[in-house]
Amino acid sequence: GRPVLLDCDPGIDDALAIFMALASDELKVEAITAVAGNVPVERTALNALQLVELSGYEVEVASGAGAPLYGKKKTAESVHGRNGIGDIELPPPVGALSCQTARELIYRKALEQGGELEIIATGPLTNIASALLIYPDLKNLIRHIWIMGGSAYSGNRTPAAEFNIYADPHGASIVFQSGVPITMCGLDVTNRALIYREDIERLSLFQSDVARKSAQMLTWYLGFYKSFGFEGVAMHDPFTVAAAIDPSLAATRHLYVDVETEGEFTFGQTVVDILKVSGKKPNAHVALELDNKGFVDLFEKLMRSYG
Ligand code: BDR
Ligand code: CA
Repeated sequence: GRPVLLDCDPGIDDALAIFMALASDELKVEAITAVAGNVPVERTALNALQLVELSGYEVEVASGAGAPLYGKKKTAESVHGRNGIGDIELPPPVGALSCQTARELIYRKALEQGGELEIIATGPLTNIASALLIYPDLKNLIRHIWIMGGSAYSGNRTPAAEFNIYADPHGASIVFQSGVPITMCGLDVTNRALIYREDIERLSLFQSDVARKSAQMLTWYLGFYKSFGFEGVAMHDPFTVAAAIDPSLAATRHLYVDVETEGEFTFGQTVVDILKVSGKKPNAHVALELDNKGFVDLFEKLMRSYG
């Protein structure tokens, strides 16, 4: 498979995204780096390690940035539970975190892969931004970044801003301006990548710990999404992995995207030049439509592969 690094903040949907990526034949997960986001980084890193161990795959996991490049840390326990994974328990880790930091590991893997490494980012973009800042040649070594973040039309953390971008708009801005080819899977598609109670019940019957724990986490997540007025669970991060596996699942337009780092009402918004009025060169392939059925089928296929 294509070499990828997952940069994430598990996170219930990050957990599912990790399981999908590990099981996919199209991708070869080279490393996982954790960033502060849904919960503090000590916890997202521990969750990542425990999730990898539960999966049975062997991947190096590193811990990274504990706070955004500027400003205060913002978490999302109300969405993901106090421990970040729906307050379910996973077996304690037997292995250890990498002795490298997330940004060191990102750079090392990018060098090792000689320009072929892709990154799938499903948390705030702090690790990637800080790696780009301290290793100036890194931008030429990353083939593509698949970002779960932002939206062309409206937010979820504020009316304007999606959580991952809101949690570190300065970091996000550095990544969007880096020149690395980007696909942005924002709320425009991920709010529509829904799975429902019946799907979760089916998953709970699959014969593996991965599937059973996933169903438990998703049941918790469904409770949040119901209270948010949704019929099902929005699979933000899993959809982004799915789009990396099979780009035909997302219809994109190549557009210019800026990140708002100042606005009183729009702090953390991705400002997407849909009508191409800025005259600026496009910097992201923005996903605006999706194949939801194709996504759910792929999700089930990969989850079935465990056990
Ligand atoms: C994003 O925010 C997080 O809570 C989810 O894991 C996802 O990455 C959705 O806005
Ligand atoms: Ca996430």
